[in-house]
Formats: sequence, C-alpha cells, structure tokens
Amino acid sequence: MNFKRRLKSKKNCKIGIDLGTANLLVYVDGEGIIFNEPSVIAMEYETGDVIAVGHSAAQMVGRNHHGIRVVSPLNQGVISDMDAAKKLLMLAIRKAENTDIDLTTATCLICCPSEVTQIERDAMIDLAHNLGIPDVFIEEEVKAGGIGAGIDIYGSVGSMVIDLGGGSADIGVLSLGDIVVSESIRIAGNYFDKEIIDYLQYNHGLLIGKKTAQRIKEEIGTLREDLEEEVTTHANGRDIVTGLPRQIVVRQSEIRDVLLPAFETIANTVLKVLQNTPAELSSDIIERGIILNGGCSLIDGVDAYFENKIGLKVNRAPNPLTSIVEGTKVLLKNRGNYYVKPVD
Ligand SMILES: Nc1ncnc2c1ncn2[C@@H]1O[C@H](COP(=O)(O)OP(=O)(O)OP(=O)(O)O)[C@@H](O)[C@H]1O
Ligand SMILES: [Mg+2]
Repeated sequence: MNFKRRLKSKKNCKIGIDLGTANLLVYVDGEGIIFNEPSVIAMEYETGDVIAVGHSAAQMVGRNHHGIRVVSPLNQGVISDMDAAKKLLMLAIRKAENTDIDLTTATCLICCPSEVTQIERDAMIDLAHNLGIPDVFIEEEVKAGGIGAGIDIYGSVGSMVIDLGGGSADIGVLSLGDIVVSESIRIAGNYFDKEIIDYLQYNHGLLIGKKTAQRIKEEIGTLREDLEEEVTTHANGRDIVTGLPRQIVVRQSEIRDVLLPAFETIANTVLKVLQNTPAELSSDIIERGIILNGGCSLIDGVDAYFENKIGLKVNRAPNPLTSIVEGTKVLLKNRGNYYVKPVD
C-alpha cells in the first residue's frame, strides 16, 4: 500500500480512537470518522507484509492458509499483539482522504475498558508513541460512550452507562464529568460467539467457525422470553463425527438459552455497581434510567431484559456502535478535563 501522497500535511491534528476488540473507529478533527471497520488485519506469514485490513481482512477469518496470518490485535479489550495493532492503526489513520496527517504534532485519545491494568494502559500509550504521536491520553470507554450517547456528564446529575462490546462489558456511573463507580467484565460478544460454538458442537455435533457464530448471534440472538413465532437460521460447519460438511437449522430459543447465563453474569455486575453507587446518584439513575451502548446492545430484547432484572428504565443509545468515537470529539476539546465543559 502506498503511504506517500502529494497532499498538504495536517499539523496539530486531534485524533480520537475507539480501539475495540471487534471494531476500530478513528475520528480525525476536521475530517470526521475516517475509519469504522473490524479490528482485523491479515499479514503475510513470512514477511509480515500487510495484505488486508478491516472488512476485507475480517472476511478471511477462519479461511486462511498457512501463508497468511489473520490477526485480531485486541483480546478482551486490551492489546494482545502490539505489532499487528500498530500496523492496523497506522493504515486506519492513513485512510483520511485528502489529508496527510503529521503524526509527530498530533494529539491522540484512545479509549479503553474501565478495569484495565496500568500495564495494559501503558501498552495503549506505547502503541500511539510507536506511531510517532507524542501527546497521548487514555479515557474509559463508558465515559466517552456516555457523552457520545448524548448524556450531559458534566452536570451534578448521575447517569449510568452499560457498554456491551465484543471483548468486555463495562458498567459505569458518571457524575460531574467523570466516573464515580465502574466495573468491567470480560464477558461480551466474543464470549457469546464462543458459547454458541460450544453449544452447537456438544448438542448438534457440528463444528462451526467464529464468523458463523457471530452471524447467528446477530441474526437470531434474543433475550425475549415470549417467542410467539420462532425464527430459525441455518448453520454450516463440519460434522464432528464424519468430518464432512453439514448444514443444520438453529432455533432462536436455543440461542436465547445459550445467551441467558452470560447475561445473568452481566446483570449481576450491574447490580453490584448499583449497590456501590452513592445514594444521591442512585436517585438520579432512577429518574434518568440507564443507557446501553456497544454492538451487543443491539441483541433483540436486551433493554427489556435489563429492565426486568434491575427494575429501572433502560434505553439503547441512538447509535450504540459509534457512541464512543463520537464522545472522543468532545473529550479531545478539553483533554478529558472534568472541570471544563467543552464549548462548541
Ligand atoms: N445487530 C447486532 N446484533 C447483535 N450483535 C451485534 C450486532 N451488531 C454488532 N453486534 C456485536 O457487537 C460486538 C461488537 O460491538 P462493539 O463494536 O461495540 O465492540 P468493541 O468496541 O469492538 O469491543 P470492546 O469495546 O469490548 O473491546 C460484536 O460481538 C458483534 O457481533
Ligand atoms: Mg467498545
């Protein structure tokens, strides 16, 4: 791929990055969201040369031969392959059309799950430094996601955000511009996919790939108890006895029963956060309700499920897949400072 463009170099650029386990989103000040694709990169095994990133690399998952390495550089919300993460991010940033961003004068905000260790945070900062970006800061996904979902987190009114992503579920209570209580558990989209793979293997004797499991979850995944008319889908895979290709029909209620125990764990974590929330903020959350963010909030019936479990009003964010990167726009204006409400 050719990085050299005869374009004007853009200095002092502000870059917001939602480096998710499933999806990478990059916002560049003055350009908008320039990259919104799966966090996947395909490289030549021997040379490490990049073959594909984003959507086209995601198509290769589970379909590659030994000469190609298809990598998701993040695992459960944190960087697990630094080299691949660096290459992916570099190519994503270079996607800004008509602009050649001067990274050596840029400021960059990277969003991370709430409960990452200092080492995991440092890895994110190192990643940006490796790209040549001198000024880097980290913010929690729930904070950026709350802002991106349209909540005024700077006022003295509490709000609760649940982010159901690909690698982690993050729950946070926000007030006066920052997080008051939070929890993060590494049970989210990828975990649901794995549970679907295990279920079909043990109950139908069929081995399916990750992409198929993800499609099944997105197509017929539900948490609704009353399924009047049961929807089905097909699953193609390899019969674990004969080793031959086989197709089966999967019912929505089966997938619901696979998802429910995982959501039970997430709901218990939400209850734990509520139990640790100061009383005044609890009363605000009763009034305002809870906001759902992240791709897995799109699973059918998730809002009603949490309402039933928690007893509070739950609303899905208008754009749950882009809320976090939208929030970086605001946080970049004041470098995340909670004393200052950014002005447009
Ligand atoms: N319409 C949909 N229905 C159900 N699930 C969906 C839908 N769209 C996306 N998802 C799931 O959402 C997950 C990705 O969500 P998201 O982009 O918020 O994750 P991420 O930010 O990359 O991960 P994390 O923040 O945990 O590191 C994937 O597991 C994907 O399968
Ligand atoms: Mg995320």
